[in-house]
Order: sequence, then structure tokens, then C-alpha cells
Amino acid sequence: MVSLGASDVRVSPLGIGAWAWGARSFWGDYSVPDLQAAFDTSLGGGVNFLDTAEIYGSGRSETLIGTFLQATDKKPFVATKFFPLPWRLTKGSFKKALQGSLKRLGLQKIDLYQIHWPSPPMPIDVWVSALGDVIEAGLVRLGGISNYNVEQTRQAHALLADRGIHLTSNQVHYSLLHRNPEHSGLLDLCRELNITLIAYSPLEQGVLTGKYTPNTPLPGVRGRRYDRDFLLRVQPLIGLMREIGQAYGGKTPVQVAVNWVISKGAFPIPGARNARQAQEILGSLGWKLTHDEVFALEQAAEKS
Ligand SMILES: NC(=O)c1ccc[n+]([C@@H]2O[C@H](COP(=O)([O-])OP(=O)(O)OC[C@H]3O[C@@H](n4cnc5c(N)ncnc54)[C@H](OP(=O)(O)O)[C@@H]3O)[C@@H](O)[C@H]2O)c1
Repeated sequence: MVSLGASDVRVSPLGIGAWAWGARSFWGDYSVPDLQAAFDTSLGGGVNFLDTAEIYGSGRSETLIGTFLQATDKKPFVATKFFPLPWRLTKGSFKKALQGSLKRLGLQKIDLYQIHWPSPPMPIDVWVSALGDVIEAGLVRLGGISNYNVEQTRQAHALLADRGIHLTSNQVHYSLLHRNPEHSGLLDLCRELNITLIAYSPLEQGVLTGKYTPNTPLPGVRGRRYDRDFLLRVQPLIGLMREIGQAYGGKTPVQVAVNWVISKGAFPIPGARNARQAQEILGSLGWKLTHDEVFALEQAAEKS
């Protein structure tokens, strides 16, 4: 188990991301029994952190999680997000959005409420101040941000610290193929300020699973983002991930990709769409890549 930020909350070393749960336009079709099985397998395997957002499937992801929570006596830590839509211009809209999430999730309190993007038109301090308000009102246990850069993270941290509240997390894109948080200094800053860096898309939306190749490209929107040339370039990295995984009894690229994120001190939230995927993700835990293996993977990733 690991701590979240400076809080005394203890969670499994990885969480499960639920963007694909109900978000058809980006992820394609889904099956509720498969998602229920992904949920059950994850919780049954000891994962106790779920990440969703009000905009995933326009609320469908939260509604599905709410239904799954009702059918279990387990109480996972639930993280969701407020989206600063351009027509949301008052702090009141923040509280209203939170109430919508509480209703869909069937919860009295959100464990971790995150500001999804630092997008205009409202300045950062408006939403961070609204986050402080809902924490003080007892509607939210811990507060986080997402997609904030170094300066914005410093600002959000300071604004909450002025009120005696510790900023718990910053959720950003971080994977072997997307190491911006290291290059920008964000990972170091999070370490310095005791903020958990939650790594989204740790499997690079499926690319790092190794199942997508130039001959079997990613479907839908993902196929445009990661084209055939890109898939061709990452094959040597996938090969190395398989080779390194062999030393640990046949760990797969999925498991090596997630273990790499953990080795960097970040908290990965891979998406799982069925029991098989969730089970494989669980195998990312309980072992550790060596320093030399981490270095070799990064060298291969840089050549991709
Ligand atoms: N804050 C933000 O702005 C933001 C942005 C993006 C994501 N997120 C969060 O981060 C979570 C994870 O990111 P992500 O969903 O973008 O990408 P990801 O975790 O990198 O990839 C997830 C996808 O990989 C495939 N996959 C997962 N496990 C697999 C396995 N064992 N075998 C084969 N394929 C497997 C599945 O898609 P297929 O089976 O369809 O290939 C799955 O949906 C999201 O669910 C969301 O909670 C947050």
C-alpha cells in the first residue's frame, strides 16, 4: 500500500482508470458485464482506487461505478473530476457539478476531487478556491488537479496551503512513451511538495500492450493518434519489454509498462475493460524492475 500525497489515506500501488467505461465515441462499444467483471477482478485482487470523471461518457462512467459500488461491500477510494467547461463561470457551478457526481456515484462524499484541466476562461485560483470550499464543507476528502504544469501546480499548492489544505495529487499523462513530467520538472516538483503524481495513459492507450502492430492498428480515434509509422517505431521497445519480462517468469509488456511507472515513484491508473485485462494489470505488482532495466527501457523508448 502507498500513501496519497501527505494524507494518511493508504491505497494499492495502482488504481484502475474508467474513462473507457461508457465513453463510446472515443473507446468504441462496451459491455456492462465485462466492465462489471473488470471492477470485480480489480477489487478482488486488492486494487482499491478507481479514477473516473464527470465527462467520461457524459456521466455514464460515474453511473456505472455507482451501480457496481452498490453491488459490493468493498469501499474503494473513488477519484473523480470537475471539468471547467467554458460556460461554467461561477464557483456555484463547481458545487453543482460535484453534486451531480455524488448523485451518479451514489456517494455522500468524494474521496479525491480533481480539477480536470487548467483551462480558460476562468483563472486557476477560482476553481482551486472552489475546491478548498468543498473540502472545508466536508463534501470532498482530498483535493487534486490534473494536467497542470509546474507553475500551475506550484500556484494551486500555495493557494490551498494558505488555507491549511494540502494539495494531494496532480494527474498527468506519463508513460514510457510520454516522459514530459520528467523533462518539465513536474515529477521532481511533486516529489518535493509531497504531491502524488497520478500517471494517466500508462499503457499509452493500448500501444504499450504490444497487441497493436502496423498490421493490427488501433481502432477508431486512437488509430489516428498512433499511426502505423509510430507503431512500427515502437516494436523494438515492445520486444525489449517482453525480453525483460521473461526474467520475472514471463511478465508481459502491460506489466512491465505499469511497473516502470511505479519504479519512477508515480501512481499509475491503467484502464481495464474486462476481467482478463484487469487480471493482467494486477500482475504488475509484487516485483520490481532493476535500475539497469529501467535505464534500458528508457533508452529503447527514446529511440522510438
Ligand atoms: N486526467 C486526464 O486528462 C486523463 C486523460 C486520459 C486518461 N485519464 C485516466 O487514466 C486512465 C487510463 O488511461 P487511458 O485509459 O487513456 O489509457 P491506458 O491505461 O494507457 O490504456 C488503456 C487501454 O489499454 C487496453 N488494455 C488495458 N489493459 C490491457 C491488457 N491487459 N491487455 C490488452 N489491452 C489492454 C484497453 O483498451 P483496448 O482493449 O480497447 O485496446 C484499455 O482501455 C483513464 O481510464 C482515465 O481514468 C485521465
